[in-house]
Amino acid sequence: GPDQPLKGRRALVTSGPTHEPIDPVRYIANRSSGKQGHAIAAALAALGAEVTLVTGPVTLPDPPGVRAMHVESARDMLAACRETLPVDVVVCAAAVADWRVADAADQKLKKGSGGDALALSLTENPDILATLSQAGEGRPGLVVGFAAETEQVVEHARAKRDRKGCDWILANDVSAATGTFGGDANTVHLITADGVESWPAQSKAEVGRGLAARIADALGPAA
Ligand code: PMT
Repeated sequence: GPDQPLKGRRALVTSGPTHEPIDPVRYIANRSSGKQGHAIAAALAALGAEVTLVTGPVTLPDPPGVRAMHVESARDMLAACRETLPVDVVVCAAAVADWRVADAADQKLKKGSGGDALALSLTENPDILATLSQAGEGRPGLVVGFAAETEQVVEHARAKRDRKGCDWILANDVSAATGTFGGDANTVHLITADGVESWPAQSKAEVGRGLAARIADALGPAA
């Protein structure tokens, strides 16, 4: 019906940071809280979608009415996403670590074992958004990414959309002063093939509802 326009649709949302192990007790991470991704998952579910939320380590509760899969690393996140396919729409809101420690230690690293400095060698993680965008036959009908930028927000996001091959990208400014990471509000620019739409500053819940409504319009009623 009109208040459940996503009934019969399957959605996948990534959220939160990833943790990339250094040794059994230490990891590399970032400041994502999961608030934006979780709000999007909740909004899609509220419109009737069957939602799988693949989330990195966060302190937020699972939103009601979604299937949550909890992962740690980028590689685990990609595996959980692949398992969830096929879906009608994917929204990649997670702040996936771009790099992981090339050779994480099996035992706790000891202070002083290599002198007074420690060098970590990093290797690139798989790009989940690019992988799903370029998935060929299994590609979700609508692929939505985020772009976290600190300067030339729209220009950099446009280039990211082209490079990764997603349909839409939501650009947001993550400079420290904005409080986007971890805060309750967000200012986004929706970039599609048709151009750029700048949304007003609003709560992450409102961004989630606005995006879910746009997704429902784009997908139309399920067959
Ligand atoms: O979690 P909050 O505290 O609420 O903060 C929200 C947010 C700032 C994390 C969110 O709004 C946001 O911008 N998420 C994307 C963060 C990010 O890593 O952006 P990016 O520009 O580095 O990556 C671009 C896109 O590629 C993103 O859709 C990202 O999910 C995806 N990506 C990146 C790297 C990678 N290895 N795999 C990916 O899928």
